Formats: sequence, structure tokens, C-alpha cells
Amino acid sequence: MYIPRLSSQLLLAAGLASAKWIVPGARWRDTAGNLVNAHAGCVTVDEESGKFFLFGEYKVQGQVEGGGVAVYSSDDLATWESHGFALKPVEGHPYLDPKMIIQRPKVVYSDATEKYHMFWHADNSTYGLLLQGFAQADNITGPYSFVDATSPLGNWSQDFGVFTDYKDGRSYALYSNGDRKEARDVYLTSYNSNKTALDTVVHRFDKYDLEAPTIIQTESSYFALMSHKTGYRPNNVVAFRADKLSGPWSQPFIVAPLNTRTYNSQSGFALRIKGRKRTTHLYLGDQWDSNSLWESRYIWLPVAIDERKKSLSVEWHDIYDLDVKTGEYRAIQGTTYQGAAASTAGAAWKQEAAFADTGSILTGIYGNDSTVTFSNVQGAGAKDGQWVSFYYQNTDDMGFGDQPGGSPDRIGGAWQLRRISSVVVNGDTQKVETLFQRDTHKGIVLSTPLKLKLRKGKNEIRIGGLSNGFDVRGADIEKIVVYPPEG
Ligand SMILES: *[C@@H]1O[C@H](CO)[C@@H](O)[C@H](O)[C@H]1NC(C)=O
Ligand SMILES: *[C@@H]1O[C@H](CO)[C@@H](O)[C@H](O)[C@H]1NC(C)=O
Ligand SMILES: *[C@@H]1O[C@H](CO)[C@@H](O)[C@H](O)[C@H]1NC(C)=O
Ligand SMILES: *[C@@H]1O[C@H](CO)[C@@H](O)[C@H](O)[C@H]1NC(C)=O
Ligand SMILES: *[C@@H]1O[C@H](CO)[C@@H](O)[C@H](O)[C@H]1NC(C)=O
Repeated sequence: MYIPRLSSQLLLAAGLASAKWIVPGARWRDTAGNLVNAHAGCVTVDEESGKFFLFGEYKVQGQVEGGGVAVYSSDDLATWESHGFALKPVEGHPYLDPKMIIQRPKVVYSDATEKYHMFWHADNSTYGLLLQGFAQADNITGPYSFVDATSPLGNWSQDFGVFTDYKDGRSYALYSNGDRKEARDVYLTSYNSNKTALDTVVHRFDKYDLEAPTIIQTESSYFALMSHKTGYRPNNVVAFRADKLSGPWSQPFIVAPLNTRTYNSQSGFALRIKGRKRTTHLYLGDQWDSNSLWESRYIWLPVAIDERKKSLSVEWHDIYDLDVKTGEYRAIQGTTYQGAAASTAGAAWKQEAAFADTGSILTGIYGNDSTVTFSNVQGAGAKDGQWVSFYYQNTDDMGFGDQPGGSPDRIGGAWQLRRISSVVVNGDTQKVETLFQRDTHKGIVLSTPLKLKLRKGKNEIRIGGLSNGFDVRGADIEKIVVYPPEG
């Protein structure tokens, strides 16, 4: 099947060197124009410079695991500069060989050793070891030298997180102990004062069978966020709340609108931005793409916390502008074009849909002939293009019988996980943009952004079908929102 790929790095680099806004779910590119390739990691703030360093799993096409740990730096959490590998895979190494698993890396600074410490889930390809890896470096960007891989206090360790209490600087490891029947817990265990090894189990989230843990700390609360275990498919992330890390912890509660599956993302890290004017907490989630893990994206969103109700929710914004100095952020306002006003060609049509803004949704989008077209879309003629968010519903979860794409909500169901539509601006078929549309849920509309070059004045945006894994069906479109140029 033909799936166009953005292949020319030169093309990509053009005009995309720096970003200002945070655009969850977009293809994030570094200052050299390459995809930001640091999955399931963490952001560590360098206290001296105030710079942010993003660490994460490096994944390339054809190699899912063992790619090492990449590092990027940023002053604003929007523009990222690559510093290559923080931890390189090493052929023949017992834990860093490309055949081994190096997942969910986390980096903290140790005042005692005056070094940066990296920890991760170290394992073999069948998850038979369940260890925590440890490496050290003098410089935050590395290179990190391997120290060891150990069982935390003699126990198993799978999905891994690190939390540092801003009040006393103490660091804690969070780790699920795997999928075995005797396991299925999440541990919260303190590091010793020099952050070289674990010392005491502070709490065990018993038998909830959760993973991808992280903690958000406010002045009076700790919120521990974790996902269910659905592999690379997203689910409804939950949080527990407590006054103290040792508990008592609350019942878990769901942190995003039900059935958005946390806006199609998995938890994994959180970042506290203490600005001059306010403190903002960001949820740093992964939008995994199991069809091509290397293309997985990032869902970073602010959280709203209600201390009185003892609750927390992750807020969706297509695009937001975060000022890391003041801690303030604002959602960028765009112009909405409803699908009800778009035209359809071929077998595409407007179907009644009670959940949609206008009571109808564009469906039957298929190949290049059954398309929908938004006309009179006002553009700004910006050299670097403009973000356009496509609001869609992907009903692959409704299932296609025994075909791939069968419903996850039926016995033996598997997810297709994404469809891909084509987006053509002003009839220029030389530049077909690929719009990835993850599975949503019946009646759940999510959005995916693309940066498009719109000319000044009126534009036409045409959406066709490219792939849903077994034919050229696109997802249903509710509307598009066109944002002003960045900067
Ligand atoms: C992973 O380690 C376990 C425990 O030592 C072992 O049983 C299993 O065979 C290993 N898997 C691979 C692929 O080496
Ligand atoms: C540490 O980083 C600085 C600046 O990035 C660089 O000049 C220096 O050579 C690095 N030191 C080591 C030991 O890599
Ligand atoms: C190790 O795991 C077992 C089984 O879950 C548990 O009973 C024990 O308390 C754990 N010990 C530590 C130190 O984590
Ligand atoms: C770190 O702490 C442990 C005990 O808590 C000690 O054995 C070790 O020597 C310390 N290492 C450093 C570099 O301070
Ligand atoms: C649609 O057109 C593009 C070129 O504009 C072509 O690459 C693609 O294969 C076509 N897709 C289908 C399903 O015909």
C-alpha cells in the first residue's frame, strides 16, 4: 500500500527551525528539522541555566527497542535542539545491546555525587529481567556511563518513573512490578540521599494493575497518575491523591473526559513550571503509534487542579502558548470551519451525528475521489505556514468483523490504531500532507494538527482517504480550526 512519507529533511527544515507554541499531537521537529525522537522520557531542568532537557527513548523505523536515549534542550519547551545520544546502545553490552530494552529513562541531579544520574527500565526482549538501569554523567547531556542494572530491593521493576519532591529535593522511583499474577502493583520507593540506590518502600499501589506512573506535586497534594495496561493503545489514565507520599492515597479517578482515552495518550511524566506569576503543571504524555513506534507523538497539556474537590483534570488545547518565566499560558484562538458548510464529492456525505457541533459529520471519505472540501478558508500567507486542527472521529473501534481493525470492545478485538487521510491545499497535489487520525471511540471527536501553507485570502482544503490499514478509508471529519501564524 502506498503511504506517502515525509522524506526530504531539507523540505522539513524549511521554516520549521523554531517554534513558540506547544502543539500536542503534531509532528514535533527539532531545530535541524528532524522529528523529536525522545519517547516515554522526562524533562529535567538544569537549575543553573533554567534550561529544559528532554530525555527519551530513541526509535527508528525498523527498530522498536534498544535504540538508546536521546537528549534535547529547550528554553521554552517549544523549540528543541538535539544533543544526540545521552546513552548510546553498545553492541555486546549485557544491558545496552540494541537487542535489550532501554525504556522510560529518567534523569536527576545528585548534589552528593555532583553528577547527573540516569535510571531506566532495563530488560531483555522478553521482559524476563525486570531491572532498573543506572548511568552517570558530569554533564547533563552526557555521555552517560553505565553503572549497573539491579533489582530494586530484590523485586521486579517494569514501567519506570522518577519523582523529585520540590520541598526537600528527595527523589523517588515509581515502578510497576510487571504483569505476573504475584505482581501487578506500583511501588513508590525513596532513593538514598545521594541518589545512587533505592532505600525504603514508601507506598505500594496494590493490585490496581497500572503502569506508566508519574507524580504531580502541588503545595498541599501529591497526585500519582498512571495508565491501565493496554500495551501501546491508549486508555483512561487515572490519578490517586494524598497529603503525604506514604498515604493514605485516595481511590483512583479518571483525569480526562471519559472515552477520549486521555486524548489518545499514556501518562509517563509531569513537569512543574514555577513561574513568577503562577505555577503550572504539565502532563507529559505519549501518543504511541504501534504501527510505527518511531512516529509516536507527544501529548503535553496543562492540568487543572481543584484542591478543594481534591481532583485533577488534564485540559485539552489544540495549541497553547506557555511562558515558562511567568508560568502563565494561554490557549491560541483559531477560526472554526464546520464540516456542515464543506462540500462533498463521490461517496462522501454528511451523516446525522448527535454528538457533532452541527448535528452532522462528514463520512465516506475514501481515496482521491470521495473527498470533502472546505472552501473560503482565510489564510494569512505566512512563510512558515499555519496550524490547522482537524477534528475527526475514527470509528475503527466499531469493528470490521474479522478484519484487522476489529473492535477493542469486542472479544478478541484488536485495534487498527490509526487511519491516514490526505490533505491537499489549493489543489496542489504535488504536496500531499498526511493527516494521522488515531482511533477515537463512538461519538468521541479528537483533533490532530497539521502545519499548512495557506495563501493570503481564500484557500481550499481538500481531505481524501489514504489508509486505514487495509483500504483507503479516511476518518470522519467534524470541522477544522485554522490558527493564526506563530510568532
Ligand atoms: C530474558 O531473561 C529471562 C530470565 O533470565 C530468560 O528466561 C529469558 O530467556 C530471556 N529472554 C531472552 C530473549 O534472552
Ligand atoms: C560539558 O558541556 C559543556 C557545554 O555543553 C562542554 O563545553 C564541555 O566540554 C562538556 N564536558 C564534558 C566532560 O563533556
Ligand atoms: C517484594 O515483592 C513482594 C511481592 O509483591 C512483596 O511482598 C515485598 O514486600 C516486596 N519487597 C520489597 C522490599 O519491595
Ligand atoms: C551514597 O550513599 C551510600 C549509602 O547511603 C554510600 O554507601 C555511598 O558511599 C554513597 N556514595 C557517594 C558517592 O556519596
Ligand atoms: C491519490 O493521489 C495521490 C497523488 O495526488 C497518489 O499519490 C495516491 O496514490 C492517490 N491515492 C489513491 C488511493 O488513489
